[in-house]
Amino acid sequence: MKITFCCTGTKPEPWLEGLRSALPGSEVTVWQPGAPAADHAVVWAPPQQFFDEQSQLKGVFNIGAGVDALLKLCLPAQATLVRLDDAGMSVQMAEYVCHAVIRHFREFDAYEADIQTGAWTYRKPRERGEFPVGVMGLGVLGARVAQALAQFDFPVMGWSRSPKELAGVRCFAGAAQFNDFLASTRILVNLLPLTSETRDIMCLETLSRLQGGGYVINVARGAHLVDDDLLALLSSGHLSGAMLDVFRNEPLPAGNPFWQHPKITITPHTSARTLRDESIAQIAGKIRALEAGQTIVGVVDPIRGY
Ligand code: NAP
Ligand code: GLV
Repeated sequence: MKITFCCTGTKPEPWLEGLRSALPGSEVTVWQPGAPAADHAVVWAPPQQFFDEQSQLKGVFNIGAGVDALLKLCLPAQATLVRLDDAGMSVQMAEYVCHAVIRHFREFDAYEADIQTGAWTYRKPRERGEFPVGVMGLGVLGARVAQALAQFDFPVMGWSRSPKELAGVRCFAGAAQFNDFLASTRILVNLLPLTSETRDIMCLETLSRLQGGGYVINVARGAHLVDDDLLALLSSGHLSGAMLDVFRNEPLPAGNPFWQHPKITITPHTSARTLRDESIAQIAGKIRALEAGQTIVGVVDPIRGY
């Protein structure tokens, strides 16, 4: 069995070694233009030329959860496209979002600023019930995040395309319940996939529906958020702040107002990193299953977009 590796920005050697030892007898090589046809591909941000040449692929394994960039390309029609299914990302995402929510709720950012000036201050404890958190997207990552937040006794809401039942989470579904979800939410967490339905979903109209003093945590994709609308709502005071891990252009260009904005905290797309060993084990298991004609989880529906 031949496996081709085409992951932009990723050092290939440890992946090749890991895949070879997880799939003994397989031939695993880095793709070069003109390379021989392979059975399966492990990819991140490949060029269109890769799929034009490797048009016979049976499986395409993305080493991330989001497939928005891949779906902009023309993929071989018969290939099964598979996203990473957790592989150690959900716990990282739960850490990041719980940190962001708690930092905001407990005003740790303000304490940090006070300490910098040598001030020993106290703030009045705030009422947890006044900080309902709404999680958009209740998939592999969103469900774990919502349930982790519920452990801290925040009121937690969740919104997805299809109806869900999650312990400790008040679930809303579909376009018909979106406004009710937003109106019940003060801290908004975005864990949607980027699709034609969800692009620009955090805009003036939707963010204005959040409860006053709202806070935005975007950990999915930059194109979910209309940047100028966020800035306008921070200026008007309807929103009190934002923590952003993802941006329309990455790395965030120098001079972008998010860098210095006093109410915005940024991180460099690091909330849930791809973990190599977990990912290799998952991909190798799925390659074996596909080769044995078994069904696997994490298959992307290109029409749905995730
Ligand atoms: P997932 O398992 O596919 O879950 C997606 C969720 O979004 C599902 O609950 C789905 O609803 C819901 N959804 C999709 N379209 C919707 C719509 N139009 N209206 C309402 N709900 C909708 O994805 P995941 O693994 O949790 O990952 C989510 C995203 O996180 C990825 O696509 C990626 O962009 C981002 N991500 C970011 C990082 C980072 O480091 N910043 C790391 C990993 C992933 P149903 O359940 O009804 O299908
Ligand atoms: C990272 O952003 C991913 O989609 O895994």
